[in-house]
Amino acid sequence: MPSSPNTRWQDTAVDQAARARLKGQAPRCIWFTGLSGAGKSTLANALELRLHAQGRHTYLLDGDNVRHGLNRDLGFTQADRTENIRRVAQAARLMTDAGLIVIVSTISPYLSDRQSARALFPQDGFIEVYLNTSIEECERRDPKGLYAKARRGELKDFTGIDSAYEPPVQCELTLDAGQFDVDACVEKIIECLTNRNSI
Ligand SMILES: Nc1ncnc2c1ncn2[C@@H]1O[C@H](COP(=O)(O)OP(=O)(O)O)[C@@H](O)[C@H]1O
Ligand SMILES: [Mg+2]
Repeated sequence: MPSSPNTRWQDTAVDQAARARLKGQAPRCIWFTGLSGAGKSTLANALELRLHAQGRHTYLLDGDNVRHGLNRDLGFTQADRTENIRRVAQAARLMTDAGLIVIVSTISPYLSDRQSARALFPQDGFIEVYLNTSIEECERRDPKGLYAKARRGELKDFTGIDSAYEPPVQCELTLDAGQFDVDACVEKIIECLTNRNSI
């Protein structure tokens, strides 16, 4: 909904279908969710590399990167996390409108925020990949040292420690990235996308 009653949707002569046709692909939003250290950025990167090598037009919206620019004014309170996801989802929506296959990797801890994100896309346009890597494994990996920091009480509102993570009730793929190596995980994601005629 627009914030002002005086704005009106402007149709454009070049539309999503035209842009996608030129790229020879179906626009998609592939949304990774899971705890910090679950493997979202690693797998999103590996997946983008794979799709790019196949000639797909892609973009990776990584949560940490978006917080350096578009969302640099946001922190980790519940309200800020919700606004963070709203903006990421809207950015992804714009990019699919441009005809891209967009990969999103962000904790996105709240079910309702992910549902709102999903609602921006057609039914086959949103593929939610839940990395249910156990918190024990995430904490063992601790690639950024954040679990250690949170345990020492030096980091507040850390997902899985003192901030909630709400797992998906229904998603397109659940993957334990603590069980399989990166290549095997990418293979499973590609298989899921292929089965859905998404790539
Ligand atoms: N199967 C796997 N999938 C993804 N990451 C893995 C896997 N096995 C080990 N790792 C390691 O786990 C860490 C995951 O970190 P990262 O991708 O930054 O997580 P996130 O973006 O979810 O916070 C990396 O150091 C990565 O090398
Ligand atoms: Mg990451």
